[in-house]
Amino acid sequence: MNSTKVSILLFIIGLVANEAIGYEVNGFCGRPEKPFQSRLKPDKARYAEGEVVTFQCDQYWNYLQTKQCVRGEWIGDQFRCGKAIADNDLNYVRVEDITEETPNVLFDTNITLTPDYKFANSFLSSRCDTKFEVTTDRRIRWTLGLQRPVSLPFFRINFHLLNVSVDESLQINLTADARVSPYRTCRHVFRDLKRLWRFGTKVELNFECDANSVGDAVEDEKSPTNEIIIETQSSKEIAYKLIMVLLAQGYDIGDDRQAVCGEPEEHYGLDMRILWPNINYSIQCSGDWEYVSYTNPDLPDTTIHKRQCVYDMRWNGTYPSCVPKTVCPIPEEENNQINPEFKTVRFNDVFYFNQTKWYAIDGTTVEYQCNSALTQVLLGDAIHVCKNGQWVGTEPNCFDLSELKVRKVKNRASDESSNGLSEN
Ligand SMILES: *[C@@H]1O[C@H](CO)[C@@H](O)[C@H](O)[C@H]1NC(C)=O
Ligand SMILES: *[C@@H]1O[C@H](CO)[C@@H](O)[C@H](O)[C@H]1NC(C)=O
Ligand SMILES: *[C@@H]1O[C@H](CO)[C@@H](O)[C@H](O)[C@H]1NC(C)=O
Ligand SMILES: *[C@@H]1O[C@H](CO)[C@@H](O)[C@H](O)[C@H]1NC(C)=O
Ligand SMILES: *[C@@H]1O[C@H](CO)[C@@H](O)[C@H](O)[C@H]1NC(C)=O
Ligand SMILES: *[C@@H]1O[C@H](CO)[C@@H](O)[C@H](O)[C@H]1NC(C)=O
Repeated sequence: MNSTKVSILLFIIGLVANEAIGYEVNGFCGRPEKPFQSRLKPDKARYAEGEVVTFQCDQYWNYLQTKQCVRGEWIGDQFRCGKAIADNDLNYVRVEDITEETPNVLFDTNITLTPDYKFANSFLSSRCDTKFEVTTDRRIRWTLGLQRPVSLPFFRINFHLLNVSVDESLQINLTADARVSPYRTCRHVFRDLKRLWRFGTKVELNFECDANSVGDAVEDEKSPTNEIIIETQSSKEIAYKLIMVLLAQGYDIGDDRQAVCGEPEEHYGLDMRILWPNINYSIQCSGDWEYVSYTNPDLPDTTIHKRQCVYDMRWNGTYPSCVPKTVCPIPEEENNQINPEFKTVRFNDVFYFNQTKWYAIDGTTVEYQCNSALTQVLLGDAIHVCKNGQWVGTEPNCFDLSELKVRKVKNRASDESSNGLSEN
């Protein structure tokens, strides 16, 4: 009995905090896409509003990428994992100061890398006699020549900032632009990961270079690149050295070079059928959901949509729009109430159709308060669950606080045994 009274007290404090705002709505997300050869953390069928998921690639050392569930939608780029290229070393490095119109060549060196079986890296400074190091704040172009041409959607470059602490490095802006082919556009995809490394800081630069179109993907495949060009500039004069170049390509299934994407995102209310694992899927509304898409570019005149893995391991295709056939009543506007005797505080686990339209479906909960939170207290089920179109739970009651007599309130909240309010 006493602990109930303590929670009543806490409840009242909560009510006061919530008084000013309307009600809160929290959705959920299904499983995000999972790249081939990767792990999701955490890996679940369903994620709560605001929850963040990260991905870890099994092979190509991936940078940390996260997505967040916002109103039923995963916010963030499609995540991809690359397959490390193990048999294509660098065979020359040209370093030029390109601040002036005429480049000033600092290094133009043919290299032979000593074997390294531990990592499938194209370049590790420990494998190379020449140290490609510059001390400057000027614009530098690094031309990295490969042994053989390759289509290059992913690569990583690490620099060592010598005698620069991690703290100092955070004040330094080392910009880097990269290009690999006229058919691809490179994006610097991850904020620099800066780590303490041998009396200095290691800076990791990750690039994704996507083909600009299907046609460009084909052209790139026909005439791949054998050079990576990176232009760097430090906002402050520092010494930095090239310490690692790591290359990766997309996963494919042999002869026809069909890309392999992994598992597509799973939305609630949909049935996904695997046509060919990691390659293509057909998607329909689940049995008790209604198809409401205006158009279907994937399979016109049907309610079947397709998700297909295309070049550079990118998903293409659409999801059907489906709405639940059975829903629980929700307030039409902010001020309306399901039950006028109570104030609605919060909906949890609602189904978001889009960023504005949502439905209360099986499993959605609603939480109530008394209308006059300051003078009334609610006893009974403050949370009801939606089941088969009905809000389920016993009807709560609101009592005026004046009807509850305060007998004794001790100062120490920890002293629960004799604490709290007492009814007459
Ligand atoms: C590097 O190798 C290329 C091709 O083998 C050759 O043409 C060039 O002269 C070499 N450069 C240097 C600096 O040795
Ligand atoms: C880094 O510091 C060491 C030790 O003080 C010094 O010998 C070295 O020349 C410094 N290197 C650079 C590039 O400043
Ligand atoms: C770093 O440089 C880039 C490109 O010049 C600029 O857009 C960015 O704002 C700079 N960032 C900082 C922290 O100075
Ligand atoms: C998609 O799956 C079907 C059924 O397995 C298969 O016949 C078809 O070739 C696949 N399409 C592509 C482009 O992979
Ligand atoms: C992507 O799918 C759309 C239909 O949804 C189709 O028109 C387009 O050609 C596809 N693109 C690729 C690269 O397959
Ligand atoms: C969400 O869907 C509803 C119902 O179809 C529509 O009226 C509304 O414009 C949509 N909102 C957005 C942001 O697309």
